[in-house]
Amino acid sequence: MATTPSSVPQEADVEILFNYLGKRYEDAYLDSPNLQDFVRNAISTLAPHSQVLDVGCGTGKPVADMVARAGHSVHGIDIAEEMVGIARGQVHGSEACPATFEKADMRTYMPLSPGAIDAVFAVYSLFQISPSDTYSMVFRFGEWLRPGGVLVLGFTPSSVLVEGQGTYDPLWDCVREVEKPWMTRVTKETLLSEERWRKVLEQAGFRVEVERSFRFVPKDEQHKPEEVHSLIQARKMEVDSLCGPFPLPDKHVVLSDLDQRAWMALQHRIVIEEWQDPILGPTAEDQRILGLGGGLRAFLTASQVSGKEATQSLLAYPRNLPFAENEFDAVYSFMALDTVPNLQTALSELARVTDLSSPTASITIVQAAPDNEVTRLLNTLSLPLNSESESGQQYSSHQGYLLHLAKKVLSECGFGSISLHRVRAKYPFPGHDPVFEAAEAVAAPWFCGGKNLAEAKKALAPHLRNLFIEHPGVLKNDLAMLVARPTQN
Ligand SMILES: C[S@@+](CC[C@H](N)C(=O)[O-])C[C@H]1O[C@@H](n2cnc3c(N)ncnc32)[C@H](O)[C@@H]1O
Repeated sequence: MATTPSSVPQEADVEILFNYLGKRYEDAYLDSPNLQDFVRNAISTLAPHSQVLDVGCGTGKPVADMVARAGHSVHGIDIAEEMVGIARGQVHGSEACPATFEKADMRTYMPLSPGAIDAVFAVYSLFQISPSDTYSMVFRFGEWLRPGGVLVLGFTPSSVLVEGQGTYDPLWDCVREVEKPWMTRVTKETLLSEERWRKVLEQAGFRVEVERSFRFVPKDEQHKPEEVHSLIQARKMEVDSLCGPFPLPDKHVVLSDLDQRAWMALQHRIVIEEWQDPILGPTAEDQRILGLGGGLRAFLTASQVSGKEATQSLLAYPRNLPFAENEFDAVYSFMALDTVPNLQTALSELARVTDLSSPTASITIVQAAPDNEVTRLLNTLSLPLNSESESGQQYSSHQGYLLHLAKKVLSECGFGSISLHRVRAKYPFPGHDPVFEAAEAVAAPWFCGGKNLAEAKKALAPHLRNLFIEHPGVLKNDLAMLVARPTQN
């Protein structure tokens, strides 16, 4: 039996394993009446000719095959070429409702029509991704589905684990690096409790509708220990998953004491990895642009958008913007809303200075995505932001609430077309001690000066070490970008 050295990246492990197993996986796992029943019931809730995505589709049986036979379009993605080839050969759709398959890693995959898929199935395919990616995938399934769409998850819950198996990860409330012999190899898995899966689904805007757990014995000569399989069917209830995690708080907690120099140093590290058009809205050479938050230049450089310079820029939001009505065509607010004392007023001010009659009128607000690792890290720190602060305020920013309120206020101010987009981004820490470097860079803007900076860095270190196992020297910093325009453009 081969073991997997921990230095080998996980995706290589998974690809190698499933390319090697191919049809043997299907022979061992296909005959599961409980799974087939569950999938059949989920399919029966779909409207005729639905669009279905099968994530980690394996050989296409049973899920994609059952979906295709029920008369729906299905697209299967899998990281293992061998699995994709088998699925193509044995799952057939019709001209009207095709069955297509593609080799893709779910962590970087982007569907052609995000926000329009009727159902996503991810059955037993989320074991071999990191805790951070597991959390993130549920939000991304939410982004891919249409409101009311169905998500079916299949997994083994962490309740099956015995003492000493895996390591509890407090950042994501799950068990990581569970090593277990499975189908001739030793795999490393991430397991969540059933309760935690329910919670993550709720946070990503889903309502759990059906659940089932059962025991299953694979039909494989060399691998037949009993396993626990759990299935959840959930429905997308929130329109904008990027406004999560849900439920939203009922008010904005204003963060003060931001060290601007440390903040700008962090923003200059941003690397934009993926960029959806038309993300920045209509552009024109002579646009009058206001940039708020000081990060616009770094952001535009990182996203390789040239020819755009702010006509005016402000590091922080003043109570009232020192500009006339309709002074700008485009306004950009970059990670700047957290520290705004009166959010409602600040948002109305953005609308006041934007010329709604301009053909390129737009307001773009960039905040962190709900699964952003840096926000997650900061929100785990239960230290007052500043040792001198009498209020003992802690970092507890809710990025989704800011975007949710922005949507509401801007639509009331005449911005009838508002869309939210994920921007894939990261912060690299290339030095010889990335844990030290990242702890300093992440904590310094908020924990300025006082002794709490040292405590914050110390508290961040173990989480950073875990995150760097999956992506050495890099923190994922996905952003949520709201683009508001008047209806007519
Ligand atoms: C245990 S099999 C389940 C297959 C299928 N869903 C089923 O129920 O029969 C897990 C599948 O997920 C795929 N997978 C694992 N990690 C993946 C990733 N990051 N992106 C895409 N597919 C992945 C594997 O290649 C494998 O085919």
